[in-house]
Amino acid sequence: MTQFKTILVTGGAGYIGSHCVVDLLEAGYDVVAIDNFANAVEDEEGSPALQRAEEITGKPITFYKADLLDKPQINDIFDKHNVDCVIHFAALKAVGESMQQPLLYYQNNLLGMLNLLEIMRSHNCYQMVFSSSCTVYGEPEHLPITETHPTGSITNVYGRTKYFIEEMLKDLSAADDKWNIISLRYFNPVGAHPSGLIGEDPTKEFTNLMPFMAQVALGKKPVLTVFGSDYNTPDGTGIRDYIHVMDLARGHVAALSLLSSSHIKLRVYNLGTGRGVSVKELVSVFERVTKTKIPLKYEARRLGDITAMWADATLAKNELGWTTRHSVEEMCTDFWRWQTMNPNGYPKKIKKSVIVINGKS
Ligand code: NAD
Ligand code: UD1
Repeated sequence: MTQFKTILVTGGAGYIGSHCVVDLLEAGYDVVAIDNFANAVEDEEGSPALQRAEEITGKPITFYKADLLDKPQINDIFDKHNVDCVIHFAALKAVGESMQQPLLYYQNNLLGMLNLLEIMRSHNCYQMVFSSSCTVYGEPEHLPITETHPTGSITNVYGRTKYFIEEMLKDLSAADDKWNIISLRYFNPVGAHPSGLIGEDPTKEFTNLMPFMAQVALGKKPVLTVFGSDYNTPDGTGIRDYIHVMDLARGHVAALSLLSSSHIKLRVYNLGTGRGVSVKELVSVFERVTKTKIPLKYEARRLGDITAMWADATLAKNELGWTTRHSVEEMCTDFWRWQTMNPNGYPKKIKKSVIVINGKS
């Protein structure tokens, strides 16, 4: 096996992608990133998130605005660069939207992946790290969740795209021994780079707990609705395994090391802390470290939500040599630093159509 040099990162302008790019550059890899800005901010020069990743690391990133559904465009990028491995983040991920527009999700996530795999194969590139999700487990049969837990009984279209892709990867690796793939099942990524320069700034409406809570703390939303206080958990609220995005990013660097040193065909790893935290607990840590008060409103359970989920991350520890380092306090502190340094997120592209009257727009 040879050491990797050039890593192609799809969805590199997005939340997890941009954080991972920082770690890849710091680990010495050359990064070619692509994104179509379906859910990332674009400015005149491309991706502000990736420009800031360059600022943090002092290293350059090659970036292309490109869509995985545009096969010739992606093919050209592979023609130009000698890609050793792909980290495939690009996907649509809004659960609610996926239920309204299933074809959009199947087309983007499944066809995008199919195009990518075909182009990789035609360029003799067989190494990939895939962004999967703990959502593939559905309602847990046991806790903590190990990788051997059954997958597939998922209640939403987004989650099914991850499950179908994992099944596709199994078929692919069974049919052709050349493939060397790691599927990483993320639990709940939160937080931001400790510099406060990069963080989560989707262009689509977000509904996840931490970003919503931060909007309430900033005064941009009046109240945090707690979905369900009658769960069978110690305080009645839902439990998740929140993981700092920089720990998650480091998991990808660990995955690359394994792929570059061994032919493992296809392996799946949970990336989580192994610890469950309830909604109430997360709110209370957030209030403490940010010295803010989050007004709460209790409502019925959110449709499709599960009671509790946390990872058994032993396999990643044993085989990737990876464990999490950051606490829940750091997840909240770092997210809050990003939010307060960038209350409106990244600087947005100025629309040329804005009419200026008397010097005021
Ligand atoms: P994100 O939306 O911030 O990043 C995904 C990026 O992919 C976006 O910048 C988007 O513009 C881009 N993209 C989407 N479709 C594309 C296409 N056809 N061509 C090119 N670019 C495209 O999301 P994220 O939170 O960074 O998630 C990254 C990956 O991790 C996704 O695959 C997501 O499903 C998975 N994941 C995320 C979470 C989470 O909670 N954030 C949890 C589990 C798994
Ligand atoms: C959601 C997605 C899941 C995806 C995961 C990571 C849904 C139904 N599921 O999971 O597919 O893999 O994000 O991106 O959207 N909560 C509140 N109030 C809020 C928001 C959330 O009480 O305003 C609660 C939820 O009920 C849950 C916890 O906070 O108990 C975490 O919610 P969220 O951040 O949306 O993540 P998941 O539901 O785990």
